[in-house]
Amino acid sequence: MNDFIPVNEPLLNGNEKKYLNECIDSGWISSEGPFVRDFEKGLSSKVGRRFAVAVSNGSVAIDAAITALGIGLNDEVIMPTFTIISCITQIIRVGAIPVLVDSDPHTWNMDVNQIEGKITSRTKAIMIVHIYGLPVDIDPILLLAKKYNLKIIEDAAEMHGQTYKGMPCGSFGDISTFSFYPNKHITTGEGGMIVTDDEYLYNKCQSLRNLCFLPQKRFIHEDLGWNMRMTNLQAAVGVAQLERLDEFVTKKRLMGALYTELLSDLMEYVDLPLVKTDYADNIYWVYGLVLKDNLNYNAEVVMSKLAALGVGTRPFFYSMHKQPVLRQMGLFENEIYPVAERLAERGFYLPSGMALTETQIRIVVDRLRSVLTGL
Ligand SMILES: Cc1ncc(COP(=O)(O)O)c(C=O)c1O
Repeated sequence: MNDFIPVNEPLLNGNEKKYLNECIDSGWISSEGPFVRDFEKGLSSKVGRRFAVAVSNGSVAIDAAITALGIGLNDEVIMPTFTIISCITQIIRVGAIPVLVDSDPHTWNMDVNQIEGKITSRTKAIMIVHIYGLPVDIDPILLLAKKYNLKIIEDAAEMHGQTYKGMPCGSFGDISTFSFYPNKHITTGEGGMIVTDDEYLYNKCQSLRNLCFLPQKRFIHEDLGWNMRMTNLQAAVGVAQLERLDEFVTKKRLMGALYTELLSDLMEYVDLPLVKTDYADNIYWVYGLVLKDNLNYNAEVVMSKLAALGVGTRPFFYSMHKQPVLRQMGLFENEIYPVAERLAERGFYLPSGMALTETQIRIVVDRLRSVLTGL
């Protein structure tokens, strides 16, 4: 269908081509090129952190964060069940224990009221994961971290340009991470960033990113790392994208506001994302919907009907406690998180990419209306 509206399309019409040409003309295409440093400096100053380490994606950024913090065998890490698997994989690989909390039904973020009850003498860290456009309510978590001497990992993959009580998301963790996959507010194709104020963690992440080469003795290793370097080509795109972050956040907010306005007559069918909380205005990383409980069909049905009408969508996250691979490991047996389960069953998101036009949003809503009123 030629008027298919994809769930995501990035906007690459700033300086991306110019900076990419500079890479090619100069021959600097590897991670040694100058755009990597420029991108690190640009992002760290945007979120007010001392240090940044550019990496190849947001998933490995979390892997490095877990390892750099020294999380290991039988340590417990408290995290939301409603998230992407990237948040949990390295916790498991290092032999630590993920301890899950359910979601808040309104913000879809982790329910902070459930955290303290999960803290034990083995708890080492809390992982904050901001979901879909609204930040987690961070202050109560920071208080718990102080009270129990816990580390904070902040996954701000979806939260470029967002603030919590006026402070940038990405500024709250002992280590905070970002993703630059093309569905993010700013993209590098594939890419990620680790930010911190702690010099030890910075050095550790830099080393982990580059196979733990000893700085003075190349090809000698006292630890195991990864090659998770970002190329100069990726960083060139990132620098160009970062120049437009504020504009992109404004655009996403306008897109979100338009969806909310146009969907207002469909609220007997769907819950819309919160426009704001008392600590942040939504930046609508994606525009999510949750089908009302009284409807006798789920998100999958609506998504497939929308696909047939040329509208791309994505389901909400499938919770960690339900993941086959984790259940096979014997994790989360008999654990139930009803809010996250409902979100996974009834939630999906509409086209939300940066290149989406007002006309496309109107078409999406018209098609959704015909699906919902016809079911
Ligand atoms: C909350 C969250 N964390 C981590 C990631 C992983 O990032 P990447 O796709 O760059 O590996 C994503 C990706 O969408 C995400 O949404």
